[in-house]
Amino acid sequence: MPERTPYIAANWKMNKTVAEAAEFIDALLPRIAATQCDVVICPPFTALSEVVQRRYGTAVKVAAQNMHEGESGAFTGEVSAAMLVELDVEAVVLGHSERRQYFDETDEALARKVPAALAADLEPILCVGESEGARDAGETEEVLERQLQADLADVESGDLARVVIAYEPIWAIGTGRTATPEQAQETCAFIRDVLRMRGAAADELRVIYGGSMKPANAAELLAKPDVDGGLIGGASLDPADFAAIVEAAG
Ligand code: PGA
Repeated sequence: MPERTPYIAANWKMNKTVAEAAEFIDALLPRIAATQCDVVICPPFTALSEVVQRRYGTAVKVAAQNMHEGESGAFTGEVSAAMLVELDVEAVVLGHSERRQYFDETDEALARKVPAALAADLEPILCVGESEGARDAGETEEVLERQLQADLADVESGDLARVVIAYEPIWAIGTGRTATPEQAQETCAFIRDVLRMRGAAADELRVIYGGSMKPANAAELLAKPDVDGGLIGGASLDPADFAAIVEAAG
């Protein structure tokens, strides 16, 4: 089975000015100099360029938190894949539950965004996850399968392993209530199986967990065989905390 490189991403959401981003990167880089993991920083659009400049010469990658699927046009407030690539951004978070919930991000739009990102050679980090109600009702797998099939409908099976899937149960995001390692393992394994059925090179695909991951719980989550990394919100805002999570990933 191919070794999957752990993938640890910092989702800053709407946090950090350019000056704060610069300070963070300067504090982080010496702490993670020896890591073998893929480390990805997802700043707000305004700080992308600063983070890109400061990480040159390191293995740290930079991701945007959203993009529009079109090439250009009358879409006020939106940013295209080409605009991100021009900045040397390498990845993009798509379908985060906050975008689905507060900004009406739909599966139909995601079905266009994921292929647009791949066509531009941006690595999509596609977020999926169930609500608390869905988990309580025993509908987790149904919800995840529906999201995955819809959002990846137009991705060729040979390209599926180029997508990083972030399993983010909505009830665990920003709540301090983390999924148990067993829940994370079971659900990440289910996601891998769904994509294997769709023809993905499932052993190469990275499936990561997000939702209140922090230094105190990262090691036990990341030790699970199907949890290939983390998408970290709150605990990614502090360089020491984020570095501790990178270290836990090995
Ligand atoms: P959290 O956020 O770590 O603050 O729960 C994770 C995310 O939303 O990506």
